[in-house]
Amino acid sequence: MSLIGKNALVTGASSGVGYAIAEMLVKAGANVIGLCRNTSAVPEGVHPIACDLSDASQIDTAFAGLTELDILINNAGVAKLASITTGAPADWELMWRVNVHALALCSQKSLPLFPADGGQIVNVSSMSGHRVPSSGGFYSPTKFAVRAISDALRSELRAAGSHTRVASISPGFIDTPLLDIYFTGREDQLEETKSSMKMLTAEDVASSVIHILKTPAHIDITDVKMRCTEQAS
Ligand SMILES: NC(=O)c1ccc[n+]([C@@H]2O[C@H](COP(=O)([O-])OP(=O)(O)OC[C@H]3O[C@@H](n4cnc5c(N)ncnc54)[C@H](OP(=O)(O)O)[C@@H]3O)[C@@H](O)[C@H]2O)c1
Repeated sequence: MSLIGKNALVTGASSGVGYAIAEMLVKAGANVIGLCRNTSAVPEGVHPIACDLSDASQIDTAFAGLTELDILINNAGVAKLASITTGAPADWELMWRVNVHALALCSQKSLPLFPADGGQIVNVSSMSGHRVPSSGGFYSPTKFAVRAISDALRSELRAAGSHTRVASISPGFIDTPLLDIYFTGREDQLEETKSSMKMLTAEDVASSVIHILKTPAHIDITDVKMRCTEQAS
């Protein structure tokens, strides 16, 4: 399916995976809006809208100006090292708001903007949404929720006769700034992990998202798991 002239919205287009997806969408001929706080950092050709996704009212405002959408990429995410035993509840709340609530809200707000024959939503989950790493803390549950929301939304859409497709993509380690935050206080572990494997790049994940988007409309790719070859689980 051609992406030329498609209207796409990418959350977290200012860094890492979201930046790479937004950049590839522009190159493919799409009109791309990037929702993030650091609006000066989006790729060339992307129209930025300032939005703190942890604040539902800012999401309302951002969507109020939109009239048409074909593609929503729910990519923005926060990964704090916040265990259940001793983690800061404020970190749990932030991850819940950005990784889960904002994703559901952006999805709901996109539906009326999609064409009658259906739009496409891609949610960025994680391998931490399939198994719980020992250090997964509250981050991992938010990524399980992303997969569950994807499945729930798809069921609701099919029950309503909608052809809007919902995909969930679950990468393993990706070499982006998010890892620096996730490994705060464990920098030596991050270095060791990086030296033991050739991690995925943001572009590796973005290429897979573009593949999903280009798939013919009668094919619904629902779940993609990907990790670098050296990552065991
Ligand atoms: N890196 C990994 O190893 C890895 C593995 C699996 C899954 N993932 C997932 O991949 C997705 C992208 O992560 P990344 O690795 O590309 O991380 P990143 O480089 O840190 O980028 C995160 C993006 O999310 C945006 N964001 C964060 N908080 C926000 C907020 N409150 N409001 C608006 N935007 C916000 C940031 O934009 P602003 O700061 O400009 O707001 C930034 O563009 C996330 O969902 C993450 O959980 C990452």
